[in-house]
Amino acid sequence: MKSKFLQIILVVTLVFNYSCNESVSEKEIFISDLMSKMTLDEKVGQMNQYNGFWDATGPLPKKGYEKGRYDDLRNGLVGSMLNVTGVKNVSALQKIAVEETRLGIPLIFGFDVIHGYKTISPIPLAESASWDIKAIEKSARIAAEEAAAAGLNWTFAPMVDIYRDARWGRVMEGAGEDTYLGSVIATARVNGFQGENLSDFSTIAACAKHFAAYGFPEAGRDYNTADINKYTLYNNVLPPFKAALDAGVSTFMNAFNTLNEVPATGSKFLQRDILKGDWGFEGFVVSDWGSIGEMIPHGYAKDGVHAAELAANAGSDMDMESSLYVRELQGLVKDGKVDISVIDDAVKRILGVKYDLGLFEDPYKYCDLEREKTVIGSKENNLAALDMAKKSIVLLKNESSLLPIKKNGQKITLIGHLANDNNSPLGNWRGAGESNSAVTVLEGLENYGKNSITYKKGVDLYYGETNFHNRVKLNHTDKTGFKEAKLAAKSADIVVMVLGEEGFQSGEGRSRTELGLPGLQQELLEEVYKINKNIVLVLMNGRPLNLTWADENIPAILETWHLGTQSGNAIAQVLYGDYNPSGKLTMSFPRNVGQVPLYYNYKKTGRPGASSAEVTKSTYADVENSPLYPFGYGLSYTNFTYSELSLSSKEITRDDTIVVSVKITNTGKVKGKEVAQMYIRDHYGSLARPVKELKGFELLELNPGETKEVSFEIDNSKLVYYTANDRWESETGKFSVFIGGDSDVKDNKSFDLIN
Ligand code: BGC
Repeated sequence: MKSKFLQIILVVTLVFNYSCNESVSEKEIFISDLMSKMTLDEKVGQMNQYNGFWDATGPLPKKGYEKGRYDDLRNGLVGSMLNVTGVKNVSALQKIAVEETRLGIPLIFGFDVIHGYKTISPIPLAESASWDIKAIEKSARIAAEEAAAAGLNWTFAPMVDIYRDARWGRVMEGAGEDTYLGSVIATARVNGFQGENLSDFSTIAACAKHFAAYGFPEAGRDYNTADINKYTLYNNVLPPFKAALDAGVSTFMNAFNTLNEVPATGSKFLQRDILKGDWGFEGFVVSDWGSIGEMIPHGYAKDGVHAAELAANAGSDMDMESSLYVRELQGLVKDGKVDISVIDDAVKRILGVKYDLGLFEDPYKYCDLEREKTVIGSKENNLAALDMAKKSIVLLKNESSLLPIKKNGQKITLIGHLANDNNSPLGNWRGAGESNSAVTVLEGLENYGKNSITYKKGVDLYYGETNFHNRVKLNHTDKTGFKEAKLAAKSADIVVMVLGEEGFQSGEGRSRTELGLPGLQQELLEEVYKINKNIVLVLMNGRPLNLTWADENIPAILETWHLGTQSGNAIAQVLYGDYNPSGKLTMSFPRNVGQVPLYYNYKKTGRPGASSAEVTKSTYADVENSPLYPFGYGLSYTNFTYSELSLSSKEITRDDTIVVSVKITNTGKVKGKEVAQMYIRDHYGSLARPVKELKGFELLELNPGETKEVSFEIDNSKLVYYTANDRWESETGKFSVFIGGDSDVKDNKSFDLIN
């Protein structure tokens, strides 16, 4: 039997003749026709999103709530569900919406597909370290294909928050500290998820989150207050959101935090003035999990009624999991507190995205059991995940070319809980990735080489964080494993120690005040070092760590993050030199936690200084200002030299373009990839200017002895910023341009913007 909705569709179709290229007006006519049939309750229902009946990703709802929710679903009081996955589950609920509600409006199903659905790719921070934009787009594409095959039509990604504080656990989920790179990656991820045509069954709607400034919580504590000035907001925080919007992102998610005293969820300034006003965003805004209700503890809303009023009027179109819209909006409209035009606008936006996805044409288009079986976890997807994982690895140190390790004839002692952990490499926000499904480093080393490998755990990890909700501090004090590990290290040619964070030790709600190796791992490292100094430290973690001791003592350090399903294979290929590492950090690594927030594009202060000996300068007494490893830094098994930096002119006008070029030579013995980074310093302006800002980059591959010239065009778009005049513009004066292999590059040429 055809659903009521499909019958309506049929009628409308006769009139409007659907084709792949429906014009906007056809969409508008369809939606306004549908809305003219909707009651206020049904409209409010579209603005309500419920969690599925399992797998909560926020504070858990009360037990026994399922029944009421099924009733709401049947009564047309639900527009969307999250955390419902798999064709069977999705179609069962879609069937209720389509066949049992009065108008049969299909649900939109959202899920956090952050770095893969089932085939898990590296955490987003790791992917950003590849600087390989095509690979990042492809990774999002594969995630979308798998998610769509599982019945889903919407991901709560990409997270495009900019951040500067490694204590914040969610740094793992974004593209690092830089606004320019963050914007390029935001575009790639939106394109990857949404593809060319949103109504294709293999593409899903994306969601730019968290709007805005969620990445600036005070002291790095999750959900905490964000106090940043207007210029930091415009120049650093907003551009990746704007880039996502320009790429056509369908939805935005607001944020848990207050921004300059106003909760983002209740912020008219962010949602109405900037997003829907200045930027003309036509999609919809979903709240974050329960964030409408959280305006009460924020001290901003009196009660639930007030919170719903504030959020709706501010432009939050859909309520994720606070149930306040479905409970309160009808009353608020009747009392005149929320105008019906606010509801109509929100509903139009939500229906618009459903329309773009093609859900009105076929609500079950994402529900194909055959496709689900073949697409998810395919061999090709695993190969792509392996490729992405290799590209994400960053070589931090390699004294005396300890790496790569020979593939046979070596006695390797492998130490560390994480070396044989098939769960942690999946990282946090692992979608529907199966627990314990990652390739371990031990397996990888065995897969790719013929060495004799002795494995010793050494010590258990500090936390027992094995899923999204648990945080059990185990406080291990047991050092009995040290002895065995040291004994095994004694006779080894090379000791590989895999240390760092468990998969759930970074991510939402995982802020830390210490950034060292957790638990007894540092002690284990130092003890083993006393026995055998030939150590390769392989790090697995979701955030920058304090590696000061390791950097001073350990000859080789490889940053491998949480690399996903293919983790161990990717790490082994790099350790054995089958793949020459090319990743570069996208977050500065501090010398100690007292330096954070730490970022390369800082402002100089009136008393710039670097060394701790400079007393009346802006320095620390105990540590240098510079990071241990700067933004953009990463080594290779070969070396690159930069020479002949040149600029096509020493002057530029706002209508001109000048070209900056440099020659890059591979001076080593193996082929390698380098990320050439172009930074610009604006020497002075109507606002104090950063020391330098990334404005371009190129990933290039060079054979041994080969030289290539890299050029970047500089035009007005590279010189503008949000000035004291409250607009995007460039200001005349002196600029310097740098090209190098990391943000610490010194070589530069200057030019003047004359008019
Ligand atoms: C997170 C969001 C996420 C949502 C749904 C929230 O706790 O902040 O990023 O999309 O849960 O899982």
